[in-house]
Amino acid sequence: MKNNLKGRHFLTTQDWSVEELEQVFALAAKLKKAKKEGRPTPLLRNKTLYMIFFDASTRTRNSFETGMTQLGGHGIYLSPDKMQISHGENARDTAKVLSRYGEGIAIRHCAYGAGNAYLREVAANAGVPVINMQCDVYHPCQILADYLTIREKFKTTRGLKIGVAWTSAPNYVRPLSVPQSLILLMPRFGLNVTLAYPPEFRLMPEIEEQARKNAKGAGVKFEISHRFEDAFENADVVIPKSWGPLVTTRDTGEGLRLIEKYPSWRCDRERMALGHKRVIYMHPLPADRGREVTDEVIDGPQSVVYDEAENRLHVQKALMALTL
Ligand code: CP
Repeated sequence: MKNNLKGRHFLTTQDWSVEELEQVFALAAKLKKAKKEGRPTPLLRNKTLYMIFFDASTRTRNSFETGMTQLGGHGIYLSPDKMQISHGENARDTAKVLSRYGEGIAIRHCAYGAGNAYLREVAANAGVPVINMQCDVYHPCQILADYLTIREKFKTTRGLKIGVAWTSAPNYVRPLSVPQSLILLMPRFGLNVTLAYPPEFRLMPEIEEQARKNAKGAGVKFEISHRFEDAFENADVVIPKSWGPLVTTRDTGEGLRLIEKYPSWRCDRERMALGHKRVIYMHPLPADRGREVTDEVIDGPQSVVYDEAENRLHVQKALMALTL
């Protein structure tokens, strides 16, 4: 397989062409098949990936670490509170030192206004590829898995409607990175996107503008609505998912109060019935059951959430095998 991706950073899908992303999907499909058939794929034998997690994770940590094992390499879990980052070591020194030891650095850093800047600083100083495991702006690996899942379910994705909808979920203010990465990538692969959120929950203006450009370039629609149901009507795919009102306010108390203003923004059977009869329900997980979505929907026949979570493993293995 042609590979011009060795050494490339993966901070956002925007930095990669559709053809380059297709290389990831093609290899992911091969690796998925090989795993199913029990064939080993030691494409990264003796290679090491450093995984720095500033934030909690179930899927991302385990899919990356397991992926490195399955490729014959090793993933090292690093927590900043156990690193010299906790004593103020800067991104440049961390990047330069880890680059002398291993073959890749992956980072999750979701602090609003800080995460993406940290990743870019590491990438600017690293001698090895840097992979974004989610920041405040993007969650590109999640969206690769989402797109692979949609393609597996529908075979061809051009002309499908995807509804990306805000949902009300309490307790903490979730990042903007999933909906932002969705609206950027999906139009590039021919999907019409409807994004629905209450007015206070708008996404970063420059990301919405870039999504509009992506849709125009691909000849598909990108619409924004403040009506929940608009994301569901005639949709082939729906991704109802909570995020914080971070563009409106950085005050956590105010953010949580705004989330409670819209309790009816929950995915249920009635909303799903507005979609096309083949509509699938997706969510990156973790989902706040009962608040974001009813059990009936997330555990029902339209839900593909575990296929979606599984695909994290396959796309990330492909990404690592191509870049490290
Ligand atoms: N979807 C996702 O990134 O899950 P984790 O937060 O568990 O890694």
